[in-house]
Amino acid sequence: MPTKTPNRLHWLLRELDDTELDQEFVRDVLLVQHDRLRELLATLDERAADVIRAEPGSGLELREAVENLAQALTDHMRGEEHALATLMPLTPASGQALAYMREEHVRQRTEIEAMRSLASSSADAIRLALTVGAFVAAVRIDMELEESQCLSFLHVTDRYRQASG
Ligand SMILES: [Fe+2]
Ligand SMILES: [Fe+2]
Repeated sequence: MPTKTPNRLHWLLRELDDTELDQEFVRDVLLVQHDRLRELLATLDERAADVIRAEPGSGLELREAVENLAQALTDHMRGEEHALATLMPLTPASGQALAYMREEHVRQRTEIEAMRSLASSSADAIRLALTVGAFVAAVRIDMELEESQCLSFLHVTDRYRQASG
């Protein structure tokens, strides 16, 4: 059984056995991951702004920042989908939140591939920078929604268990 510290298991939710997951732990790990993603998004946003300002070398740095965020977000989405589908209490409201999250993840995966394609094939760094700007804004909003919706189902259930147990 691994030690339950979000730091140690930063990106590893998907590698845990289902019996090792509990709602409070999953919530803590996902919140830590969201904080890390916010840092990567801030860096990505800065690199895109550098390209718009035509800073020397900014095109390469933007491409690196795109790949860093793409890998971290892809790992996060995979673990988040599995953990929440396994642990969230099944109610009409939670099912709706889960379905919305999956739709958002499909959209984000499509946009990640579009950015990777622009990063690998296009000499037009400005176009990539503009695409990145819209993507960063959308992912920030999506994480806020996940925290106020999906993750609140986990939190409320744990509190109820403690209060009634
Ligand atoms: Fe998500
Ligand atoms: Fe998330």
